[in-house]
Amino acid sequence: MRAVHLASSAVAVTLVVGAVAIAGGSVARAQTPKPAPLELTGDASVRPWKRYSGWPARDESKWSTLAKLGSPAAPKEPIKITGPITGDAAKGEKLVADRTRGGSCLACHVMGPAGGANLPGNVGPDLSEIGSAGREDEWLYNYVYDARVYNAETVMPPWGGHGVFSDGEIRDMVAFLKTLKSPARFKTALDDPNKRPAPVEKRDNLDSLENPGMWAVDKGEELWKKRTSEGFSCNTCHSDPKARFKTWASTMPKWEPRLGKVLGVEEFIARHAAATTGAKWLMETDENRVLSVYLHNLANGAPIKVDTDSAPAKAAIARGKALTERKIGELNFACTDCHGKSANHWIRGQWLAEMKGMYDHFPTWRTSLLAVWDIRQRFQWCQVNIRADELPPDAPEYGDLELYLASLNEGLKLSVPGIRH
Ligand code: HEC
Ligand code: HEC
Ligand code: HEC
Repeated sequence: MRAVHLASSAVAVTLVVGAVAIAGGSVARAQTPKPAPLELTGDASVRPWKRYSGWPARDESKWSTLAKLGSPAAPKEPIKITGPITGDAAKGEKLVADRTRGGSCLACHVMGPAGGANLPGNVGPDLSEIGSAGREDEWLYNYVYDARVYNAETVMPPWGGHGVFSDGEIRDMVAFLKTLKSPARFKTALDDPNKRPAPVEKRDNLDSLENPGMWAVDKGEELWKKRTSEGFSCNTCHSDPKARFKTWASTMPKWEPRLGKVLGVEEFIARHAAATTGAKWLMETDENRVLSVYLHNLANGAPIKVDTDSAPAKAAIARGKALTERKIGELNFACTDCHGKSANHWIRGQWLAEMKGMYDHFPTWRTSLLAVWDIRQRFQWCQVNIRADELPPDAPEYGDLELYLASLNEGLKLSVPGIRH
């Protein structure tokens, strides 16, 4: 009894202090609301950052990431090939379909018989008749080894340059390519990436029968009122969140001068909770995720409208754009290789989305994983998947990237939690 009593009187005192401060502020300068208290020291996610369990454990530290450059430069000259290439075409046919080597060539190319039931993609040209296209062996070898020697803008990974395939393996694949002389034949229209229909999301993401992620909204609402051991809840100071935060999440992320970085909803939750309720709801904890879903959900229907005009926001957006163009990881992809140049194509069985439409439904429910992903976890997967080391979720680079992405999605209405495969 005594402990409860003490806790509630502490709340009452703070409420009075808070009310006075806010009222005073609004009388003096109605246009400049008091900035929200934030824990300004320390990290908003676990350090050292530890990759999620179940994700590939490869160490990709020697390649470029969104935070550092490290990958070798593109070759200046093609490797000289003397005499015809005589590899093992049967081995080559297996190698082009080997998904353990960065997704296989079929991820992007139809390749005659090797296409089969592999759901080939169409980011690259159909190579079913490359064997009669009059290509020199040296050209084929170097295109596979490191295509940048012929095309600085290529999206094809430097298979040889980054050591994914050995010299002998590349020769085997070239030998196979040289056997390809007749148009691809597909068993079903689905096997042909040019006929495969683009996926259309028909499920109603705001129907809790269709989207199990709606459960996170209820959890978030519960958590809003749950008092910490210090006796505070979000509700202590914000007792009408539905009215107060009707648009807030649609204005995030934003440049935060006190931290010198772009702050997203999830990092805000971690730092504001620590400063007000004492809760340690670091990014990517269950509590942080459900509160992020809840705060976004409150702003559903509000069009995304972020600060793109202030000088620091403009600079952050420019940095974010540059990051989407940076080649990273062993497979040497930039975000724009997949979501720009190759958008609206198939990479293997996966449809590549454009950057507009990629943001308004986050955090989103992943039906294939039975989990809610926030935008930072999605960023992380799009790096680990191309064999690049991800950054901790509160990395300033992700802030820049997120603000740039939000700016491209301005005007789209929030609809959270989304639902995705
Ligand atoms: C991420 C997609 C992607 C993957 C994966 C990929 N390619 Fe390519 N490839 C392309 C694109 C796009 C082109 C068209 C030219 C360019 O953009 O450089 C191309 C061009 C080529 C060419 C030159 C064709 C010509 O007309 O001369 C060859 C040969 C080739 N790819 C072989 C391969 C092989 C072998 C693999 C697997 C080891 C592979 N590609 C994997 C995207 C890809
Ligand atoms: C001790 C009081 C207090 C508690 C507890 C508290 N907040 Fe706040 N919060 C504030 C103040 C003060 C502001 C800034 C003035 C305003 O916007 O109302 C604020 C602002 C906010 C904003 C708007 C921020 C912005 O950039 O405009 C959000 C969202 C928010 N709080 C969420 C939460 C959440 C989630 C919790 C629970 C983890 C919480 N608050 C707990 C005092 C508190
Ligand atoms: C090798 C191709 C590839 C690269 C490179 C890549 N992505 Fe993706 N990305 C995908 C695929 C495949 C999906 C899942 C299908 C889809 O929605 O596009 C996806 C999904 C996403 C989504 C969620 C889309 C949605 O509607 O839910 C976001 C956001 C995203 N990527 C951001 C990025 C960012 C940022 C980068 C650069 C750091 C990046 N991606 C690099 C292939 C890629």
